[in-house]
Amino acid sequence: MLPEEFIKMFKDTFNIEPICEDKDDGMCIFKRDDEIVIKQNGRIIAQFEDNEEDYATVLQYYAKKAGLITPHAKEIETLLRSLFVNIIILTEVEDKNGFSHSQRVAKLAEDFARCLGWSEEEAVEMRNHALLHDVGKIAIEQLMLYSPTRLRVLELHYQDHPTMGAIYLSINESLWKYIPTARNHHERWDGKGFPEGLKGEEIPLYARIIAIIDYYDEVTNFVSADWDSEIKTPSQALNEIRMLSGKFFDPQLADKFIDFMVNAYGIKI
Ligand SMILES: [Fe+2]
Ligand SMILES: [Fe+2]
Repeated sequence: MLPEEFIKMFKDTFNIEPICEDKDDGMCIFKRDDEIVIKQNGRIIAQFEDNEEDYATVLQYYAKKAGLITPHAKEIETLLRSLFVNIIILTEVEDKNGFSHSQRVAKLAEDFARCLGWSEEEAVEMRNHALLHDVGKIAIEQLMLYSPTRLRVLELHYQDHPTMGAIYLSINESLWKYIPTARNHHERWDGKGFPEGLKGEEIPLYARIIAIIDYYDEVTNFVSADWDSEIKTPSQALNEIRMLSGKFFDPQLADKFIDFMVNAYGIKI
């Protein structure tokens, strides 16, 4: 009988769902006589006596051998992610409830993911992508705060923040998965966005979702030093999203987002 504890540790460590039988493809974990065998694409990479006390050491040792992410990668990811998220949130304008742009976008993105039928794990991952989408504004917000010509500098550099975000997130392998979201959340469905001018489904899915929620949040709240802009009501914002669907936004996702907001928050449009 394969020990459940080991399978759980394996999944938590590597984020891989192993196949619990002896096969020649994929990552298999199975029991042979009294030993646990780990087989990767037909090659045995670990075979050891079933002793619960050794599980952590075994995982660490064989991770390297199999070229898997080391057992510490998750902790590193959590640490770096929270560092970046905290810095970006500190530089943002708080609303009366104490939340800022990235936090509000993250909350809506997570709930919207659940509404799309995504799993709990995927919804949490959606939240992480959303929390980091504007990470590249960190340096740019500093220019805005401290430069005597701050607004002009901000305007000049605003379009750099997706690329800056990609640079920050390249610092460690564990954050690379968030790069396409940070880099491409200002692309437009019609290809007229920035920085790469990607079009339609060339734009990564997370970035297409965040583009819509980002817009909604920006027009319904004070987000930055752009105090001149008029705040729109949720209903006006949703109507604008409908008008911009197919131009700025993925039309299918825009429709689903509007339905979600109408049903979840009772917004009349
Ligand atoms: Fe942005
Ligand atoms: Fe944003």
